[in-house]
Amino acid sequence: MMVYVTDQLGKEHALEGLEGWRLMEVIRDHQLPIKAECGGACACATCHVYVEEPWCDLLFPPTQEETDQLDGAFDVRDNSRLSCQIILDKNLDGLKVTLAPGTEP
Ligand code: FES
Repeated sequence: MMVYVTDQLGKEHALEGLEGWRLMEVIRDHQLPIKAECGGACACATCHVYVEEPWCDLLFPPTQEETDQLDGAFDVRDNSRLSCQIILDKNLDGLKVTLAPGTEP
C-alpha cells in the first residue's frame, strides 16, 4: 500500500506503507522530517498532520487523549490528526497527509 506525505516545504513523497504500522512510523522510517518526540505515546503532538479529503472520514475518530494533545498543537485545523494514532490498513491505501508546522525535528 502507498501513502502520500507532503513535507513542511511542500514536496510530496510517495511512501510504501505497511498494514498494522502507525503512519508516524512509516514517515519516520522513510527519513522524512518528523519530530515524533514521544515515540508514538500520544504525549507530544509533534507528529501532527493534516489529512486530506476523503481520507478524514475513513479514519477512526480521535480518542479523547488524541483530542487533548491536539489542543496544544500549533495551527490546528478541522482535518488535524496525530499520525502516531493512525494505524494503516488496506482501506487507507492512497492516504494523503501533510506534515503540520511544528513537526520539524
Ligand atoms: S509521536 Fe508524540 S503524539 Fe504522536
